[in-house]
Amino acid sequence: MSQNAGAEVVLRLDRITKSFGALRANDAVSLTLRRGEVVALLGENGAGKTTLMNILFGHYVADEGVVEVFGAPLPPGNPRAALAAGVGMVHQHFTLAGNLTVLDNIRLGTESLWSRWHAGAREKVQRLSRDFGLAVHPDAKVGRLSVGERQRVEILKALYRDARVLILDEPTAVLTPQESEALFATLRKATALGLSIIFISHKLHEVMAIADRCVVLRHGRVVGEVDTHATDKAALAALMVGGELSLPRAEARAPGPVLMQLDAVSTPDRGAAPGLKAVRLSLRAGQITGLAGVSGNGQAALAEIVAGLALPGSGAISLRGSPVARWSPGEALARGVARIPEDRHHQGSIADFDLTENAVLEGYKTRFSRRGWMNWRAARGFAEGIIRDYDVRCPGPETRIRLLSGGNMQKLILGRAMAPGPEIILANQPVRGLDVGAIAYVQGQLIAARDRGAAVLLISEDLDEIMGLSDVIHVMSQGRLSPGFARGTMTAAELGLWMAGQKFGDSDAA
Ligand SMILES: Nc1ncnc2c1ncn2[C@@H]1O[C@H](COP(=O)(O)OP(=O)(O)OP(=O)(O)O)[C@@H](O)[C@H]1O
Ligand SMILES: [Mg+2]
Repeated sequence: MSQNAGAEVVLRLDRITKSFGALRANDAVSLTLRRGEVVALLGENGAGKTTLMNILFGHYVADEGVVEVFGAPLPPGNPRAALAAGVGMVHQHFTLAGNLTVLDNIRLGTESLWSRWHAGAREKVQRLSRDFGLAVHPDAKVGRLSVGERQRVEILKALYRDARVLILDEPTAVLTPQESEALFATLRKATALGLSIIFISHKLHEVMAIADRCVVLRHGRVVGEVDTHATDKAALAALMVGGELSLPRAEARAPGPVLMQLDAVSTPDRGAAPGLKAVRLSLRAGQITGLAGVSGNGQAALAEIVAGLALPGSGAISLRGSPVARWSPGEALARGVARIPEDRHHQGSIADFDLTENAVLEGYKTRFSRRGWMNWRAARGFAEGIIRDYDVRCPGPETRIRLLSGGNMQKLILGRAMAPGPEIILANQPVRGLDVGAIAYVQGQLIAARDRGAAVLLISEDLDEIMGLSDVIHVMSQGRLSPGFARGTMTAAELGLWMAGQKFGDSDAA
């Protein structure tokens, strides 16, 4: 029994059912949340977690079922009523206004920004910041904040409106490990003060660390409910996918020739983000090159160079031994470089385009157009092929991509990148936000691409992923690249020292 077993029930979802056309996203889902409790909501991509939370918060109206907050039923489809009843939601995608200050964002929607009497507001925000350990300056412009800081603003906003129940939909998907730790400290303070939390995450170690209880959804149904201290990661993973599952491991293999080479490539710093510092990197055929490091250490700059989105400030790029003269995204694609972008929502897709349009984004359009005319029939066939081969679960190619769950969206982007049989694959955080089954699938595809002779550059913050897949590992820190370490020659602890920058010499000051 959970330690909160006797506490007051603050939230009750009773037999919630919701269908989208023929798809039953939630099927008679019931869930209770008690005062001071953290309940983790788990399930594969597309299991129905976000849909359930959207119903709770009034964004969607359930076909059947009731939501009760503090014993009173909530009127369906009314976010204001949910807010007034004390439910606060921190969305998977933030909803803040970048041109306003932190304080104004927090006040937005609750009081007039023209009112000059916001001294009380400022004090309240400062008090909440202090009590919950949410450091952020009230007068900072939100557009200039890091992702972690923006999330703190979202949480402050909910707390400012006196939320008693906080819903966090994959809050750590966009955070560095350090930011996640800070978030957990905040959540522990919140529950100690009597708040209750629904926490959605695919990262089982986080769930084990923060949740009292786990509710597991599969295909829209509750398939399990367990106290965290009575379970473990393997059991939770098995509940989620309905069986045992193990991640693929790449076996060692002899590499082929160098397909892409960067020589002494440097790029300018961008604000707090370091540029590249004389990076030398060889990507070989039949090899997965892993790039480890805490994000924000130059990985984005390196990815842009490889994909043709940026040019080196100095240094040279060569392909198969010849220096490239022109370099652009179109050029990179034409020369066999495919990209799985880091942020599938903002860099990888256009939310309101359908799957066909998204499948031919990013220069792939040229493959389907002649003399400026788009061959939509061929494009649609291409999309249908990806949907079939990569098991994208959706009603069809005319579905708007924003309606897909994270995992299905990633499969489409993966399929788009892999379909032309690229020689060089840039896989930037390819499994972020994916469930265990989808992770195994995506990683298996990367290994298969390597085995047919592609050069894969895998950028990931997850050391287990890097160590499991990579033939060679480099570490990035402050824009510098470590030497390449062959598979199995380094421990996680040794890589960690490189990640912390302690192993790099000081000679690079020049
Ligand atoms: N507005 C909508 N119209 C049509 N289908 C939808 C809509 N919203 C969600 N779906 C579908 O309902 C199912 C459940 O989606 P949901 O977003 O709730 O999954 P999830 O568990 O949050 O997944 P993830 O872990 O990838 O975020 C998916 O198949 C999704 O494509
Ligand atoms: Mg979701």
